[in-house]
Amino acid sequence: MLDVQKIRKDFPILNRTVNGKPLIYFDNAATSQTPQQVIDVIVDYYSNYNANIHRGVHSLSQEATDAYEQARIKIQKHFNAKHSYEIIYTAGTTHSINLVANGFSSLLKKGDEIIVSALEHHSNIVPWQMLCERTGASLKVIPMNENGELILSDYDALLNEHTKLVFVNHISNALGTINPIESIIEKAHAVGAAVLIDGAQSCPHLKPDVQALDVDFYVCSAHKICGPTGVGMLYGKEEWLNKLPPYQGGGEMIAEVSFEKTTYAGLPHKFEAGTPNICGGIAFGAALDYMNNIGFENIAKYENELLDYGTEQLLKIEGLKIYGTAKEKTSVISFNVGTIHPYDIGTILDKMGIAVRTGHHCAQPIMDFYKIPGTIRASFMFYNTKEEIDTFIVALKKAIMMLS
Ligand code: ALA
Repeated sequence: MLDVQKIRKDFPILNRTVNGKPLIYFDNAATSQTPQQVIDVIVDYYSNYNANIHRGVHSLSQEATDAYEQARIKIQKHFNAKHSYEIIYTAGTTHSINLVANGFSSLLKKGDEIIVSALEHHSNIVPWQMLCERTGASLKVIPMNENGELILSDYDALLNEHTKLVFVNHISNALGTINPIESIIEKAHAVGAAVLIDGAQSCPHLKPDVQALDVDFYVCSAHKICGPTGVGMLYGKEEWLNKLPPYQGGGEMIAEVSFEKTTYAGLPHKFEAGTPNICGGIAFGAALDYMNNIGFENIAKYENELLDYGTEQLLKIEGLKIYGTAKEKTSVISFNVGTIHPYDIGTILDKMGIAVRTGHHCAQPIMDFYKIPGTIRASFMFYNTKEEIDTFIVALKKAIMMLS
């Protein structure tokens, strides 16, 4: 069981007011909030052992290196990767995807095919379009149905001996749909294609096991999981990471450098050029500790209750339509009310202290599918409450009255 009132005390930001009203933060799919335990780790780093890593014999450098590498091991254990060097620190999900897309430039040729899904965020569309431009490969799309679920029979029809890569998000950021990635991965492997799963929206709600999934690449950002912005990870199977060339050149990623020739470092350093976000990496590890202490089963159970309650209350409002009604979904509710523009509702909610996201959510193809400019999106985390949902519903009704 989850003690929400106790948990809420860990998040200083939840005590603040916005426009004179207590903050109700329902924009968790954009970024989660940070508990004091993680803030303390960040303050401790800059107060006591800020130094560059892997470079100095002095004590501070060694302490920072140890903490950064320990955090990598925490991430490895969390995702059940076989080796810690299969975890590459990145600046976040987008950076991780671009690293892989860039790496495949030399492995693809004209005639090869890449499959993405209709549910993707722009960060899991644009890098692959750029890869297609560079290589002459072509992009195929798994379509979705009205509920926001992928049509898997169409996926079956897209797969063939030319399919080299499949990229799907684990959970849709715009609709909350949980995709059946186990069967997507299995079917891709049956035709010899590699699979990258975008875990940006899944990692706050569940604990992926990359070995059980047998996934080739899995990516996520720390800031969705109670960690800081500007840091994330790429998990890659050792064999794949060895096949891909380095992404950026610079310090740290080399074995030997001369003007005639440079040789590259082994994993994971081959992909980690330059001074990384050291504090961010350490805080990422602390954020996973925090979430694991609460327990992902407890988190999922409670967030599902919030999703059911929020959905039920919203559907009582006349003219309100929810986009994304998949059987398997997480605590994200995207909706519109009649013809009222989402920005107008979002702006009035903000005046009442309520943070939601409005717009296309970096998923324009989904909005095009529904023929709408955007939605209002409320996304819940384990520190939200049913009482907050009640206040949100009252505020939303007021906003609708003002705009009708
Ligand atoms: N991708 C993030 C979102 O869905 C920013 O809001």
